[in-house]
Amino acid sequence: MTVAATIPGKHALVTGGGSGVGRAIALTLAEAGVDVTICGRREAELAKVAGENARIHGIAADVTNEAAMAGLYIQAEAARGPFDIVVANAGMAGSTPAHKTTLADWQRTLDVNLTGAFLTVKPALAGMAARKSGRIVFIASTAGLKGYAYVAPYVAAKHGVIGLMRALAAETAKSGVTVNAVCPGFVETDMLEESIQRIVEKTGRSAEQARASLASTNPQGRFIQPLEIAEAVLWLCGDAAQSITGQAISISGGETW
Ligand SMILES: NC(=O)c1ccc[n+]([C@@H]2O[C@H](COP(=O)([O-])OP(=O)(O)OC[C@H]3O[C@@H](n4cnc5c(N)ncnc54)[C@H](OP(=O)(O)O)[C@@H]3O)[C@@H](O)[C@H]2O)c1
Repeated sequence: MTVAATIPGKHALVTGGGSGVGRAIALTLAEAGVDVTICGRREAELAKVAGENARIHGIAADVTNEAAMAGLYIQAEAARGPFDIVVANAGMAGSTPAHKTTLADWQRTLDVNLTGAFLTVKPALAGMAARKSGRIVFIASTAGLKGYAYVAPYVAAKHGVIGLMRALAAETAKSGVTVNAVCPGFVETDMLEESIQRIVEKTGRSAEQARASLASTNPQGRFIQPLEIAEAVLWLCGDAAQSITGQAISISGGETW
């Protein structure tokens, strides 16, 4: 039996599903037979991904807006049933030395990456516990497990996501719900391209040099592909992973352990 064979008939929420890692997760779950609701702020990006698989449905919502996330739950669950799987993937990163980080940048980074992750999963918790089944996966980062220079708010937010995951895993352990985090190193997406652009602008290095320097943080000397993250999420969502909870799984070529 394949892992995918255990998934059909479920309904998943994937935030940030209009691009990068979220798009790959949405497509992988949909191919495994899952109905997938994706959200993000850009409707056009959501519509493009929904156009790639009929099981994928886009609802525009900002993860930092509690009322918008509550509205998304009402709309999506009325159409396709309660969420069995919630993947809190939406995120953003900036980079500035800590002493130049404004309070607004600090707050925004925590709002999207940490508070947004909480607002994404909170409405699912009571229903999953009552049904004695559910899968919650946070897309954190190796920045949730170690420090990196010039991204203090992002590192703090992603460490917070790991803490949130551990707290929820403890709280749900007896209820048939699992809660885990996937922690990628650098993944080849728009976010990585933005990081490369920032290095070019701030240091005068070429894009190739910036790319090589980021790839060298991975002991395998390469960038992770979005599909590698999606396959790990698919496994965590299957019955075979029922004993896996409270884990921060590093997908980084051995950068962290
Ligand atoms: N790429 C990497 O190297 C890397 C490494 C480790 C971890 N990660 C994590 O992986 C996740 C996905 O990132 P990615 O690489 O796929 O980057 P990406 O392509 O930039 O995707 C980020 C997604 O999050 C959505 N988003 C951002 N702010 C949002 C908000 N306030 N409300 C709703 N959606 C929001 C964006 O959609 P809209 O703009 O339409 O809202 C976008 O679809 C993030 O949590 C990131 O921290 C990435």
